[in-house]
Amino acid sequence: MLILGIESSCDDTAAAVLQDDQRVLANVVSSQDSIHARFGGVVPELASRSHLQSIHPVVEEALYRAGTTLPDIDLIAVTQGPGLIGSLLVGFCYGKALASVSKTPYIGVDHMTGHLLSIFLEGQTVNFPYIALIVSGGTTSLFLCKGYTDFSLLGRTRDDAAGEAFDKVAKILDLGYPGGPLVSKKAEKGQIDAFRFPRAWLENASLDFSFSGLKTAVFNTYNSCRTAGDIPVADICASFEQAVVDVLVEKTLNAAKQHMADTVVLGGGVSANRRLRSSMTQQCLQNNLKLFLPQIQYCTDNAAMIALAGYYRYLESPLPFSFNADVFSRSQLG
Ligand code: KG4
Repeated sequence: MLILGIESSCDDTAAAVLQDDQRVLANVVSSQDSIHARFGGVVPELASRSHLQSIHPVVEEALYRAGTTLPDIDLIAVTQGPGLIGSLLVGFCYGKALASVSKTPYIGVDHMTGHLLSIFLEGQTVNFPYIALIVSGGTTSLFLCKGYTDFSLLGRTRDDAAGEAFDKVAKILDLGYPGGPLVSKKAEKGQIDAFRFPRAWLENASLDFSFSGLKTAVFNTYNSCRTAGDIPVADICASFEQAVVDVLVEKTLNAAKQHMADTVVLGGGVSANRRLRSSMTQQCLQNNLKLFLPQIQYCTDNAAMIALAGYYRYLESPLPFSFNADVFSRSQLG
């Protein structure tokens, strides 16, 4: 079975062709970073306009690289939400049009389920149940994954997502956009204990997150340092990054303990972070947990994971998908 995946939930236009649940035949991502960089964040109107320009060439390129054409595609899987409504509409309507002209089955996919399953794109054997930490620019959530279509939300951020905090700290320090990799690069030369930034543990046993207080603490520290005439950027970045990583790792381990899972999976753009990867690896080892880290190309937004999630959803319920279906801005996983 050949599945064409389409993803346009935020600022990346992506298309992929997947053969069953195994082989990624093509995975094309067109980034809009250069468009949004000067604003220090994604501008929704610019994002949807750019998707409009890119969607057709990106899909054509994916089909070409996979050595296939639309009539050979058996299923079109498109991100239906969550995300920016204008951005989502571009991919979702484009997918509907393709499905309609080619009479190909069509399915809408919750973007989060793509992240939850992306580890399988590498042909790895991962057993259910596992705990998934999905941490990106729009999400920081913990899930218990019991099957390919069976997920329970255990906790989520109550304010900023971790990636959003990285991007905002980069903006405060005038480092550029997207902020995560830039903050992380500066952090390599800084001291993790130069500043004692707050960690929001929330109520006892809570698996929710909160990063807005941390962001404010960085802002206040930056202002004090500026007044004093010396801004130790690397130290601020390292101390901030460590505060984020401590909370992400600790809460993930707590989730595994609470739900008696022996496997942990990461997903989302922030899981590219080196300090997070090494700290999670070390802690999982010490706690006898198996850890699976997807390759960077499958951590960030991509359409291969959407094709995969669509495939499993379609196997479970191959009923015709309604062409009246609309996009949604919040994940339907809870
Ligand atoms: O999953 P993703 O590609 O897309 C959306 O959230 O839409 O994640 C992007 C986020 C951005 O906030 C970016 O700053 C962050 O992931 N990010 C990182 C790193 N690479 C990307 N954050 C920390 N360290 C990194 N190395």
